[in-house]
Amino acid sequence: MSAARNLQKALRPLARQVASPAVQRRTFVAAAGAVRAAAVSRAAAPVAKQQTRGVKTIDFAGHKEDVYERADWPIEKLQDFFKNDTLALIGYGSQGHGQGLNLRDNGINVIIGVRKEGKSWKDAIQDGWVPGKNLFEVDEAISKGTIIMNLLSDAAQSETWPHIKPQITKGKTLYFSHGFSPVFKDLTKVEVPTDVDVILCAPKGSGRTVRSLFKEGRGINSSFAVYQDVTGKAKEKAIAMGVAIGSGYLYETTFEKEVYSDLYGERGCLMGGIHGMFLAQYEVLRERGHSPSEAFNETVEEATQSLYPLIGAYGMDWMFDACSTTARRGAIDWTPKFKDALKPVFNNLYDSVKDGSETKRSLEYNSQPDYREKYEKELEEIRNLEIWRAGKAVRALRPENTK
Ligand SMILES: NC(=O)c1ccc[n+]([C@@H]2O[C@H](COP(=O)([O-])OP(=O)(O)OC[C@H]3O[C@@H](n4cnc5c(N)ncnc54)[C@H](OP(=O)(O)O)[C@@H]3O)[C@@H](O)[C@H]2O)c1
Repeated sequence: MSAARNLQKALRPLARQVASPAVQRRTFVAAAGAVRAAAVSRAAAPVAKQQTRGVKTIDFAGHKEDVYERADWPIEKLQDFFKNDTLALIGYGSQGHGQGLNLRDNGINVIIGVRKEGKSWKDAIQDGWVPGKNLFEVDEAISKGTIIMNLLSDAAQSETWPHIKPQITKGKTLYFSHGFSPVFKDLTKVEVPTDVDVILCAPKGSGRTVRSLFKEGRGINSSFAVYQDVTGKAKEKAIAMGVAIGSGYLYETTFEKEVYSDLYGERGCLMGGIHGMFLAQYEVLRERGHSPSEAFNETVEEATQSLYPLIGAYGMDWMFDACSTTARRGAIDWTPKFKDALKPVFNNLYDSVKDGSETKRSLEYNSQPDYREKYEKELEEIRNLEIWRAGKAVRALRPENTK
C-alpha cells in the first residue's frame, strides 16, 4: 500500500475524532501530525514486499516460514483436486455454516450431516441445503463422504466419538478445525483410526468471518496441520481444504501447537485477559470518583474505536506515534510494569492449557445438559456489569445509532 493511501486510511478515524467534539481525545492532539510523519518515514519500509502474492517463504521477524496462499489454487485446480471427493461436513454451527457455504460456492461436492431434531437442521435449510440432496442425518452423510469434516462442537466430538469412529473407514480422510479432540485424547477419548489421513484447517476467526471475508473476495488467515499421513498426500489435501473453505493465507503448524496457542490466546489477550484488564482499569477509575461515561470512554471506547484499529492496521509503534508525546511517554514507561506483572499469569495459563486442565474444565462444563442455561446466566451477569451498561449508553450516542 502506498504511503499516501496509508496516510489517508490512518487519518480517517482521526478526522472523525476531530469532527466530533464530544469524543475529542487529549491523546490525539498531536496525532494527525504524527501519523503524517510516520507515513512519510514508512514510505521506504520493506513491509509491502512481504505482502506480494505468490511469495512462499516469508521472513517473519528473522524467522523464515512457508506460507501457502489461495493464488496458487485457481478454482479449476481446486475443483479438479476434489473431483472424486464428497465432503461430508458434520455439524452446522458457526464453522459449519461458513466453511460449508464457501465450499458450495467454490463448486466443491459438499453435503451436510446434522441431527434432524436440532437447530442446525433448520439453519441449514434456511441456507439452501436440501434434505435428501445435500442435507442428511449424521450417519448417512458420513457413509456418503470421502472427507469427513468433524465440525461438531468440541464437547460433542468427544461425546459422539464412540458412535462415529467405526464409520471412519479406510480410504476416508478425517478433518478437524481444531486440534482439541485428538491432542487431548486421554480426556476426549478421540483416538483416531490408524488407517486414515487426519488433517486440520483452523480459521483464525469465527465462522461468520470465514464467510464474510470470502464474500468480500479476501479470505481468512488459517493454520493447517497433518496429524496422520497414510496416503503421502495429507499435506497437500490439508492445504487444498484450507483454500476450499475460504482461506486466503495458510500457515503450517502441528495439531499440538494449534490447540495450545488457540486455547491460550482466547483465554489471554483475545478474550479473557482483555476483559480482565478492562474491568481492572474501569473499577479503579470508578473507585477514584470518575463517572461511568468517563471510565468507559477512557477504557474501552477509545481503545476499540481509535487506538486498536491503528495497531491492527500499522503496528504498535505507529499507534504510539499517532498519540501525544505525553501519552507516548507514559505508555512506554508503563509497558514493562504490566508485562512483568502479567507474564507469570500467562505462564500459569500456558501450563494449564498444556497439562489438559483447560480441556478438562471445558469438557466437563460443556457436556452438562444445562450448560446453555448456565452459560446464558453468566452472559447476563456480564451484560449487567456497570461497565457494559455504560458502554451500551455510549454506543447509542454514535452517529450511526442516533439516526
Ligand atoms: N467458532 C469458532 O470461532 C471456531 C473457530 C475456529 C475453529 N473452531 C472449531 O470448529 C469446530 C466447530 O466449532 P463451532 O463453533 O462451529 O461449533 P458450534 O457452533 O458449537 O456447533 C455445534 C454443532 O454441533 C452440533 N452438536 C452439538 N452436540 C451434538 C450432539 N450431541 N450430536 C450431534 N450434533 C451435536 C450442533 O448441532 P445442533 O444444532 O443439532 O445442536 C451444531 O451443529 C470446533 O472444533 C471448534 O473448536 C471454531
